[in-house]
Amino acid sequence: MSNVIVLGAQWGDEGKGKVVDLFSERFQIVARYQGGHNAGHTVIVGDRKFVLKLIPSGILRPGVLAVIGNGVVVDPGALLSEIEALEAAGLNVHQQLRISNRAHVIFPFHRIVEKISEGRSDRVAIGTTSRGIGPAYEDKIGRRGVRIADLLDADNFDALYRTQAGDKQTIAVAFGIEDDFDLEAVRRKYLQFADRIRPMVCDTAALLDQAIKAGQRILFEGAQGTMLDIDHGTYPFVTSSSAAAGGASTGTGVPPTKIDGVIGVSKAYITRVGGGPFPSEARDRMGEMIRQRGNEFGAVTGRPRRCGWFDVPLLRYTAMVNGFDSLLITKLDVLDTLERIPVCVGYTASGREVTEIPATAREWEVLEPVFEYLPGWQSATCEIAEFGGLPENARNYLQFLAGRTGVEIGGVSVGPERNQTIIISGSRLESLLR
Ligand code: GDP
Ligand code: IMO
Ligand code: MG
Repeated sequence: MSNVIVLGAQWGDEGKGKVVDLFSERFQIVARYQGGHNAGHTVIVGDRKFVLKLIPSGILRPGVLAVIGNGVVVDPGALLSEIEALEAAGLNVHQQLRISNRAHVIFPFHRIVEKISEGRSDRVAIGTTSRGIGPAYEDKIGRRGVRIADLLDADNFDALYRTQAGDKQTIAVAFGIEDDFDLEAVRRKYLQFADRIRPMVCDTAALLDQAIKAGQRILFEGAQGTMLDIDHGTYPFVTSSSAAAGGASTGTGVPPTKIDGVIGVSKAYITRVGGGPFPSEARDRMGEMIRQRGNEFGAVTGRPRRCGWFDVPLLRYTAMVNGFDSLLITKLDVLDTLERIPVCVGYTASGREVTEIPATAREWEVLEPVFEYLPGWQSATCEIAEFGGLPENARNYLQFLAGRTGVEIGGVSVGPERNQTIIISGSRLESLLR
């Protein structure tokens, strides 16, 4: 009865939504543990396309309970829009969704604070999604945040909100921001939001505890990726939450002793959105080709994603901090046409080999990638359903990645649809899903 974490092994957009949707058939609960509506998880079901932001991808499976854990930051307006869109598509979200009473609330003033920090001339912009994520987590850690439980308690909410909003207004005025700051209108709107989400709110840690005791299985859905993790990522070019495996426990209240496996999702190449170091980035026409073939444009902001080559040291590092049991490699099909495929197998700085993953952006920026080149397969993989059916060079490519990263590759995705996924028989991944 395995409870399993599925998370991004790179800088996000690895295809977690597709993988979680596929796997959720075998779980009773899918729980998000961090992030907010900065995530964009695209799931294709038949001829329908869903882009999930706050709501766990498990919602698409009738009967699966989707849980927004305490580690998530919730913009109630964004949540209600997402619920409305899914219900218009015929889903029964009210029945299937539960929201932690301990999750923190995002307000419009968080976006204003973010605009200030991203717009400063004395700081490099992170290139955030402008959803107020970072400032909401700042308030959480600063012990002045407003939680869903506070929002539902109107009297308590009023006082908390007024203090918070007043402080933010002072900051905005000090930085010369003249945005529309109708605090009273926002307060009233949030109280209306509260009434609409109330039926779905509960103590989700207790709910998950009871589910585990009843023998149900939980799939933890990561958002963002390990290299965007607040502690382990390319700080400060990161998001503000714990995207790595440890976050699954703190972000849901399920103890580590009740989690049985960690599956890393990685593209067969790599992308990143926003600023920050990226040693294996392909700034040439090959990078552009990947962007077009892989349709590498942000699901949330529409920004073109920066594209590059599979980075072995980076994967070894994310395997270390997450303890991956298995990797699922997505978007192999995007490489189908290449004659040869570069793989970053190491880094140098000033001509010297660098073996340790840097702690600072300055050290990251000077890294030079060392590439090895593998022969491409130059044939379509999108209809192949068995590992043995893949072209020999594709199998060699995957075996090379597994050998160099030291993690088994238990699955391969060759297209966005559910059935375009190969689970390798005899793999640890297969046994975790059983
Ligand atoms: P997530 O944030 O990790 O869930 O990833 P996104 O949904 O932001 O980005 C992944 C994109 O790749 C989505 O548009 C998926 O539909 C698509 N996708 C997922 N797996 C595959 C695959 O194996 N091949 C191709 N061509 N597209 C894929
Ligand atoms: P999914 O779950 C890719 C990036 C932003 C920015 C940095 C901080 O779809 O993989 P934030 O708004 O979180 O404060 O921005 O993190 N970022 C993502 N990049 N995929 C995501 O989510 C991301 N969520 C945030 O581009 O560089
Ligand atoms: Mg995404």
